[in-house]
Amino acid sequence: MAFVGRSNVGKSSLINRLIDRNGMARTSSVPGKTQTLNYYNIESLLYFVDVPGYGYAKVSKAARAKFAAMIEAYLSARQELRGVVQLVDARHAPSPDDVSMYQYLKYYHLPVLVVGTKVDKTSRSQRNKVLRTLSQGLELNQTDSLILFSATTGEGKDAVWQWLEAAANI
Ligand code: GTP
Ligand code: MG
Repeated sequence: MAFVGRSNVGKSSLINRLIDRNGMARTSSVPGKTQTLNYYNIESLLYFVDVPGYGYAKVSKAARAKFAAMIEAYLSARQELRGVVQLVDARHAPSPDDVSMYQYLKYYHLPVLVVGTKVDKTSRSQRNKVLRTLSQGLELNQTDSLILFSATTGEGKDAVWQWLEAAANI
């Protein structure tokens, strides 16, 4: 299972929360923390793959192109890949990079779960609006999966696990 999303969106934090081990996947308030594909063996049932974030402005164009090529090669060719969790920030409309990534994943027919994260930073009364903004921005259809999540409170954790188990068939 691969975890993709903009730099600093919370991919490593989501992985830590799913396995309840803080510090397992390294997190940082500074974007660009995860620089390579990091594999986490989950009880020998599956691997979580923490993918470097996209859209990080402070790396050189050449480095960004290299990252993009590596990530695209991985996502398009890795036979073992069972699904992809794409994280987007629940506070904002998806960015053009988010939309491109989503379309890319769909193009390769990968099962995708969209996770709207940092939802603890929005009020409860905004949940439906947040869901609408994300699903309209990414042009999701009825069969696509979208879950709101917070690494801080654990909201959405069980729902994400359910999706992962179904997609990985475990
Ligand atoms: P890169 O490795 O740079 O691509 O970033 P990442 O997507 O792995 O993000 P990371 O998990 O390192 O989190 C970035 C920052 O966001 C950290 O300061 C986290 O504490 C914070 N953060 C992550 N998830 C949440 C969340 O659900 N709620 C809140 N309030 N903060 C979060
Ligand atoms: Mg990271």
